[in-house]
Amino acid sequence: MRALILGAAAGGGFPQWNSNAPGCRRARRGDPLAPARTQASVAVSADGEHWFLLNASPDLRQQIEANASLHPRHGLRSSPIAGVVLNGGDVDAIAGLLNLRERTAFGLYATAKVHAVLAANPIFNVLAPDVVARCRLPLHEATELCLPDGRGSGLHAELFAVPGKVPLYLEGQDAPKQVTGEETVGIHIRDGRSELYFIPGCAAMTDALAQRLRGADLVLFDGTLYRDDEMIRAGTGSKTGLRMGHMSLSGEDGTLAAFSSLEVRRKVLVHINNSNPVLLADSPERAEVEAAGWEVGYDGMMLL
Ligand code: MLT
Ligand code: MN
Repeated sequence: MRALILGAAAGGGFPQWNSNAPGCRRARRGDPLAPARTQASVAVSADGEHWFLLNASPDLRQQIEANASLHPRHGLRSSPIAGVVLNGGDVDAIAGLLNLRERTAFGLYATAKVHAVLAANPIFNVLAPDVVARCRLPLHEATELCLPDGRGSGLHAELFAVPGKVPLYLEGQDAPKQVTGEETVGIHIRDGRSELYFIPGCAAMTDALAQRLRGADLVLFDGTLYRDDEMIRAGTGSKTGLRMGHMSLSGEDGTLAAFSSLEVRRKVLVHINNSNPVLLADSPERAEVEAAGWEVGYDGMMLL
């Protein structure tokens, strides 16, 4: 399998359009210790020719142009992008689908609940049903992803429930309850030789998730915040990480602690919020996550 990080930042990207915070200012002036990142997405391929996107980020057009593997190679209209697998209905997972209009066939894979969110938003009708096949994946069942001509891709995807919440734009008046179901899922991708987990949003490490990830070869995990209250402390927001459906890296219930005994061979942070100091290569927090065996994902990072 080949696997490439197209974008490693959380929703908003790094720098975020309306952020004048110190980290974003460093990214904006081209500081090599604070490189800009687009919103989270990964591309995977069994044969190096046909690619599946894990999430369609709002930055997808830029990500395609930045990665030659995703450029058209045949005829006047074509694309190596054979499909998209979604982990949820958040803006940063689905907005890039709008870039994939123009009538080139691909498969769109998600849970029934996430498909219902797309179906309820008529703007996604730009993905014409005679061209874009919408495939519902049941939870906890590995399914081979198909190429647009119906042949198998050699990649098998399994979606599994992780603690999360409904997308921000579907929240009601009250703070949403944490849910573990079809709203937020992790994605497991494997071919005959290698495997990868993509979990850009996860509100807590459950026993079931720990059991699943124990001993895995490669896990790309939610790196949204370093501290649960970092946006409040910085004065850039009023929400904690948990309120947004994300566990944080530090702390007793944090990601570093949760993974410390899981014996995952390679651990990479993705979906990193612009407030997270691990984005800054000279920060003590970066040194701490690296000492705990984590790599901080970046755009263009070739994983496999
Ligand atoms: C999240 O990851 O919490 C969401 O992407 C936030 C958002 O939709 O802005
Ligand atoms: Mn997000």
